[in-house]
Amino acid sequence: MTAHDHGQNSSRAWQALTTDYEQARAREDSLDRLVEWPAERTMLGDVTGRSILDLGCGNGGKLAELVLEGAAASAGVDIAGNFIASPPPGAELIQGDLSEPDALPELSGRTFDRILFLQSFGYAKDPVRTLRSARALLNQDGFILLTRTQPLRYAVERAEQNGTTVGEEYFARADYTYRPSWNEQIPLTKRTYTMSDLLNVFSAAGLWIESADEPHLDAETARRYPHKQAWMNKYLGILIFKLRPVAPL
Ligand SMILES: C[S@@+](CC[C@H](N)C(=O)[O-])C[C@H]1O[C@@H](n2cnc3c(N)ncnc32)[C@H](O)[C@@H]1O
Repeated sequence: MTAHDHGQNSSRAWQALTTDYEQARAREDSLDRLVEWPAERTMLGDVTGRSILDLGCGNGGKLAELVLEGAAASAGVDIAGNFIASPPPGAELIQGDLSEPDALPELSGRTFDRILFLQSFGYAKDPVRTLRSARALLNQDGFILLTRTQPLRYAVERAEQNGTTVGEEYFARADYTYRPSWNEQIPLTKRTYTMSDLLNVFSAAGLWIESADEPHLDAETARRYPHKQAWMNKYLGILIFKLRPVAPL
C-alpha cells in the first residue's frame, strides 16, 4: 500500500499513517511544534470571529485550538477521518477529499474567512482546480494560508540516495517515493515540483501572494534541539504563503 499524493489508495494509506504522523507531531521536539505551527499561527493572525476551513486537517487538533481561541463556526476535512474524540462546539470535522472542496455536500452553501492547506496541498488531484474550488469558498477579504515543503528538501534527499546532484534531482520530473521517518512501513509517493511550478499554480488559480515565510528555529530553540537545527541546515523546512484572490471569479 502506498500513499500517492495524487492517486488512489491514499485514503487507506493515510488512515494507517495519520496515527503515527500525529504521534510524531505531538513530540516535544517535532518541527511542527517548534517551527511550523508557530509560524502558521503568526501568519494567520487574530482569528476571533473568523470562520476557518482546514483542508487536510489531520486529527483536527489545530482547528480545535483556533476555535477555542475564538474562531467562529469552522470546519476541517481529512481523508483519513481519524479525528480527536471531542472537538469543541463550532469545530466540525468531516471525512472527505480536499481535491474539490466546494463539491463537498457538508460544505454546501458555506463560505469561510480563512482556508488552510497545512502540509496537505500536495495531495490535491489537480492543484489548480483545487485552489480555484477553495477560492470559491472564500468570503470577501478572506485569504488562503498554504504551506508546502521546500522543494529543495526532496532534491537534497534524492541526491544523497542516488549519488546525483541537487540540480539534477530538483529538475527531475519522475515521481518520488520515500518512507517518512514517522512510519517506515508505508511509502509516500510525491509529485516533484520546483518553485516556479508552485508559483505558477497560484497564478493559474487567480491568486496573488500577499506574503511568504520560510520559518526556522530561533536561536534558543536551536540550542535546545541541535539535532533539529542540523536537520533544518540540511533540508530547509517549509514555505508558507498567504494567498488572496486577484479579482472576483
Ligand atoms: C502531513 S499531514 C498534515 C496534517 C495537518 N494539516 C497538520 O498541519 O498537522 C497531511 C494530511 O493530509 C491528509 N490527506 C492526504 N490526502 C488527502 C486528501 N486527498 N483529502 C483530504 N485529506 C488528505 C492526510 O490524511 C493527513 O492528515
